[in-house]
Amino acid sequence: MKILARLCTSADGYVTTPNGWPPQVVDPVHAPGSHGIAEFLDGCEAALMGRTTFEPALTNDRWPWPDLQVFVLGSHRPAGTPDHVTVESDPVRLLQRMRAANRGGDVHLIGGPSTVETFRAIGALDKLELVVLPFLLGGGMRLTDSLDPRIGLTFESSRALPGGSVEIVYTVDPERESSRANDPNWAPASQRR
Ligand SMILES: NC(=O)c1ccc[n+]([C@@H]2O[C@H](COP(=O)([O-])OP(=O)(O)OC[C@H]3O[C@@H](n4cnc5c(N)ncnc54)[C@H](OP(=O)(O)O)[C@@H]3O)[C@@H](O)[C@H]2O)c1
Repeated sequence: MKILARLCTSADGYVTTPNGWPPQVVDPVHAPGSHGIAEFLDGCEAALMGRTTFEPALTNDRWPWPDLQVFVLGSHRPAGTPDHVTVESDPVRLLQRMRAANRGGDVHLIGGPSTVETFRAIGALDKLELVVLPFLLGGGMRLTDSLDPRIGLTFESSRALPGGSVEIVYTVDPERESSRANDPNWAPASQRR
């Protein structure tokens, strides 16, 4: 079982619209399975997310994860949560419960950024997949508002998606953690002597 975080980001680096929606929902090509998600989900058997990302699903017309087990990190069980959804306040316990239920498939870590950071911090994040959307938003939440920018990433693959988005897949490698983000002396390579 691998934990694969996959988020869409605007070309100017926002993972939400200014009013808090995932940016792919304002892409004209947005539809069930769009942005490469259908192929990605082929190898997944579970969806994992933070309570903030989960709650809008409770008022959706259709249940967004009909084929996946659903795991939610949150301090309380939101009203109306279906019985088959696992809600847990401790990320290590939630990880144990996912492992216990696992039948060999991967886990789609949907987000948001604070839950991605939580699983990175306990060493449980295996991949970070970004889908860069072909438009700017000018505001919203950035991934690194919560995710530690020193995360070590090794490029694995990229591909163009219908509608002009680009999928980039990185393996998360704690050995490659970068100190650049917190180094006051860090400068672009072109300016180093
Ligand atoms: N671009 C994309 O593809 C994408 C994907 C998913 C979500 N999003 C966006 O991301 C935004 C939400 O992101 P977010 O980071 O604010 O929220 P989030 O990760 O969805 O949920 C945050 C909640 O998860 C729980 N949590 C997180 N870390 C925890 C920890 N270490 N221990 C215990 N509980 C923990 C807490 O729940 P309690 O408050 O109950 O304690 C916390 O309030 C939304 O606007 C959503 O639209 C974008």
